[in-house]
Amino acid sequence: EKQLKPFDYIGGSEVIEQLVDTFYGNVKQHPDLYPIFPDDLTETARKQKQFLTQFLGGPPLYTEEHGHPMLRARHLPFPITPTRAEAWLDCMSRAMDEVGLEGPAREDFFRRLTLAAHHMVNTTDE
Ligand code: HEM
Repeated sequence: EKQLKPFDYIGGSEVIEQLVDTFYGNVKQHPDLYPIFPDDLTETARKQKQFLTQFLGGPPLYTEEHGHPMLRARHLPFPITPTRAEAWLDCMSRAMDEVGLEGPAREDFFRRLTLAAHHMVNTTDE
C-alpha cells in the first residue's frame, strides 16, 4: 500500500492546483468552450481539483463532498459536441505543457482524460 500513485508521481496537490488553474485559464479564452461555462470558475475549479485528485488515485475528495461522480450524467445539461471534447483536451494539453508536466505519467494521464472526454460527448456538431 506504499506504492506510488499517479497522483504522487505527477507532484501531488500542488501540481493538480497549478494544472487546473491553468486549464480553466485556457477554457476561459477558448471560443468553443467559454460560452457553456459559468463566468466565475472558482467553484468549477475547486470541484475539478477534487475530482482529478481521486481520478489519479489520491484521496477521494470529490466523492466525500459530492457523492458518486456520474460525470456523464452531470454533463448532460451542457451540449458537449465532438468539437468541444477536442477543445477541452486541447486546453488540457496546453495546461500540461504550461506547468511542465511531461513523460510517461503525463501520457497515461492524458490518455485517460481523452477516453473520459470522448465518453462525455452527448450531442453532435451542428
Ligand atoms: C463540470 C464542460 C469534460 C470533469 C463541467 C461543466 C461544464 C463542463 C460546462 C459545468 C461547470 C459548472 O457549472 O461549474 C466540459 C466539456 C468537456 C468536459 C465541454 C469536454 C469533453 C470533462 C472531463 C472531466 C470533467 C473529461 C474529467 C475527467 C468535470 C467535473 C465537473 C465538470 C469534475 C464538476 C461537476 C460538478 O458540478 O460536481 N464540465 N467538461 N469534464 N466537469 Fe467537465
